[in-house]
Amino acid sequence: MPLSKKHSVEKGFELCSATADFPTHRQPSGCHVGSPLLRPLPLWRQRFGGLTVGRNHQPPEYHVPVLADRVEYWLGSLDGTIVDATFGGGGHSRVLLDANAEIRVLAIDRDPDAGRQSASFGSRLTFHQANFRQLESVLQEEHLDEIDGAIFDLGVSSHQLDVGERGFSYRRRGPLDMRMGPDAELDADVIVNQWPAADVARILRRYGEERYSGRIAQAIARARPIADTLELAGVVADAVPARARRSGHPARRSFQAIRIAVNDELAALTDALDVAMRLLRHGGRIVVISYQSLEDRIVKRKFASESSSCTCPPDFPVCVCDTVANVRLLARGGETPSAAEIEANPRARSARLRAAERVA
Ligand SMILES: C[S@@+](CC[C@H](N)C(=O)[O-])C[C@H]1O[C@@H](n2cnc3c(N)ncnc32)[C@H](O)[C@@H]1O
Repeated sequence: MPLSKKHSVEKGFELCSATADFPTHRQPSGCHVGSPLLRPLPLWRQRFGGLTVGRNHQPPEYHVPVLADRVEYWLGSLDGTIVDATFGGGGHSRVLLDANAEIRVLAIDRDPDAGRQSASFGSRLTFHQANFRQLESVLQEEHLDEIDGAIFDLGVSSHQLDVGERGFSYRRRGPLDMRMGPDAELDADVIVNQWPAADVARILRRYGEERYSGRIAQAIARARPIADTLELAGVVADAVPARARRSGHPARRSFQAIRIAVNDELAALTDALDVAMRLLRHGGRIVVISYQSLEDRIVKRKFASESSSCTCPPDFPVCVCDTVANVRLLARGGETPSAAEIEANPRARSARLRAAERVA
């Protein structure tokens, strides 16, 4: 009897689709042309399959919510359905539910671990394990055609970083994985061990703004096969000139870049912001917290274009386009955490919150 994908995952394995006509860079890691049909799943995915591996390794704190007071300030007075598009450990959802008894939260996260965190939230919160770029279909499932507010708290949770098995951390040994959830089509192993060096250099430059992208990509290609995250971090660190190793960990940008590529994060954000803006009711608000400049640029540009009331060339004497602003900006220039918050939670350091309200 042929094995179904579901069946194989439940058994702690997944099917390799490796055939000569299926490009190797699209295959799960561990699958190569001519490889056996099954490969063992990484531990964190075995947990998704229902096995209990790793349950006791969870750190005590799943995630400390960043700028929670500002999220409450901008969204806490809105009655109705707020979408928490990045539920994580549910810190922002909790703040909103506690702030206003009229709020219901529609929570989304790609990560089944986040879904487990939602179990204790009660009937005012509904969780969907999904990519937030599927926001529109999640709303359809809930029979909603508009939303009252939305919060996007981008990037990875502390839980995802702290569990070495997930492969996000350059400080912990783990598999080259970095998938936020099982819907990701790639994993880090495919990029690191199979992509041409020129393609690796391109993502390091584009998604990591890495100055030494070419050198690092060449070093990665020479060191193949790279077995795990610490080995990758070492290869990257050795490829960076000593003078450039002073500001933070030398592998930080490369890990960020690979993670963004694995999870197609920037395209997902662009798609989801379009839908959230379109489905926000009049007077509704959207809040986005980003942690790096590429994400923040997407948010800033989207908010700027939705808030601009005239798109005529600047030398036109009168407006002929009749464009009206869809939103007004609430936190001009964005808001950042206080020194006290950063001291208490250093992961808040690079956060920038932007907020907008629908006016048309
Ligand atoms: C910074 S954490 C959010 C923490 C949360 N606000 C809290 O207070 O616990 C980001 C979360 O967003 C999720 N995530 C990132 N991109 C996503 C996407 N495209 N679709 C769904 N979830 C996503 C990650 O899996 C992670 O759990």
